Amino acid sequence: MRQPLVAGNWKMNGSLDSVTSLIEGIKAGLGSVTTAEMVVCPPYVYIPGVAGLIGDAAISLGAQDVSDQESGAYTGEVAPGMLTDVGCKYAIVGHSERRSIYGESDEFTASKFAAARKAGLVPILCVGEQLEEREQGITEDVVARQLDAVINLEGVAALADAVIAYEPVWAIGTGKTATPQQAQDVHAFIRGKLAALDSSVADKVRILYGGSMNAGNAAELLAMADIDGGLIGGASLKPADFLAIGTAANS
Ligand code: PGA
Repeated sequence: MRQPLVAGNWKMNGSLDSVTSLIEGIKAGLGSVTTAEMVVCPPYVYIPGVAGLIGDAAISLGAQDVSDQESGAYTGEVAPGMLTDVGCKYAIVGHSERRSIYGESDEFTASKFAAARKAGLVPILCVGEQLEEREQGITEDVVARQLDAVINLEGVAALADAVIAYEPVWAIGTGKTATPQQAQDVHAFIRGKLAALDSSVADKVRILYGGSMNAGNAAELLAMADIDGGLIGGASLKPADFLAIGTAANS
């Protein structure tokens, strides 16, 4: 059985005060989450503080991005080893905002995936199509291309312990969620593609849905066979909503 994972991507939001009350709020309601692993991905600068606030509560830490390099003259970058050093377990790579705003390619994303794994982080690899691509009927081609960049570099086995997040770009931050069936179709495509290469990897890999998942729609999305959790943006900034998504994953 794959343990559900509910990860909050805080993006570039927060202050010392607000991240403190966010973590305190999540901790206070954590008892209602019985099955899912809960993860928060704060902006880099708040990670050590959030680690301290989490203490021994059952909340894992992730970063929103990571460098593809180990160390050296890379101004502004944060190395994977630095993230493990401050307590991160996960790192998101290839989020659509990195791809579209900062021009990060499939190959660059794959190199970040590799660097994260090498340092002992679990990468959360984001894939997903733009609205025009869905309308052109090439969703599967786009997702396959994004996955292939990682498979070609690292081999399919590297995905067994990783996490994939399917995030249709048109659903991110728009309030427009994929229907459970639309999401399930792509999740099943991803798992089927991996199964054709290695069925044990396909069975093991956790595939999250992301894109306007919230307290109201989480249960029906999480009920789908191939949806193993969520990558949550907006709703992860409100403790009650984030916890409700975690609770919706209770078995
Ligand atoms: P959203 O963001 O939940 O605000 O749509 C999801 C994401 O970008 O990971």
